[in-house]
Amino acid sequence: MELQTIDASISPNTDPRRGGGGISVAIDGPAGAGKSTLAKRVADALGYLYIDTGAMYRAATWVALEQKIDIANHDLVTRLVANADIQLAAPDEKSQGKVRVFVNGSDVSFIVRSRIITKFVSPISAIGGVRTILADKQKKIGANGSVVMDGRDIGTVVLPHAEVKVFLTASPEVRAKRRLKDMQQMGQTADLQTIIEDIKTRDHIDSTREIAPLKQAEDAVLIDTDNHSIDQVVETVLELCRQKLAARREQ
Ligand code: C5P
Repeated sequence: MELQTIDASISPNTDPRRGGGGISVAIDGPAGAGKSTLAKRVADALGYLYIDTGAMYRAATWVALEQKIDIANHDLVTRLVANADIQLAAPDEKSQGKVRVFVNGSDVSFIVRSRIITKFVSPISAIGGVRTILADKQKKIGANGSVVMDGRDIGTVVLPHAEVKVFLTASPEVRAKRRLKDMQQMGQTADLQTIIEDIKTRDHIDSTREIAPLKQAEDAVLIDTDNHSIDQVVETVLELCRQKLAARREQ
């Protein structure tokens, strides 16, 4: 399958699904809330492009760790990320439903979801220069509409004018159980308590950082997934999208 580059100058025009004229859908929330499953299904149902912005931050983290640099040197991390060619591609049969990630042509899809990257991704994502580079790309990709993007700051910073904004959440225990299942499917081992702690640490860093912290946009719809199946949540979000599309047609 052809690569779906996240280079904004190419991506919006090379995806055959993007005829334009569609709405933008922003899905934010803490780790393990089920954002990527929801976003992917909504994008598939609407025929829109799906952008997993967490995968971009994971790729940036891999770039910094692979060079074995001091990640406290924010200028150096930012320079490395600016010079890296980060691309995303649709999931294939080997990637277990996950978006594939390429850095400078190498497939890093598996390693970017490893525990070591997960441990360092929040500190790297808090670096202002890194956020500027990735958020600029995301904004350009989203500029044509017909996109579903998930992350932490999509409704607040990247796509503040998105027609549909969802803030997805669930209790740390439920989120950790989902992560554990995810990790087991990828052949990784972990215990639930450690994952709960990891998730809480990541949420704390993500929601207290100075730049673009994780928070619900004022006009986002809050959905708690503890007591709802993924099918119910997908249907709720698709209904929100249908309403926006119908309202747009009437204008
Ligand atoms: O979504 P995922 O759990 O893969 O995201 C990994 C990390 O990337 C988050 O914990 C957060 O630190 C960072 N991130 C971010 N802004 C986004 C998406 C992800 O800071 N829009």
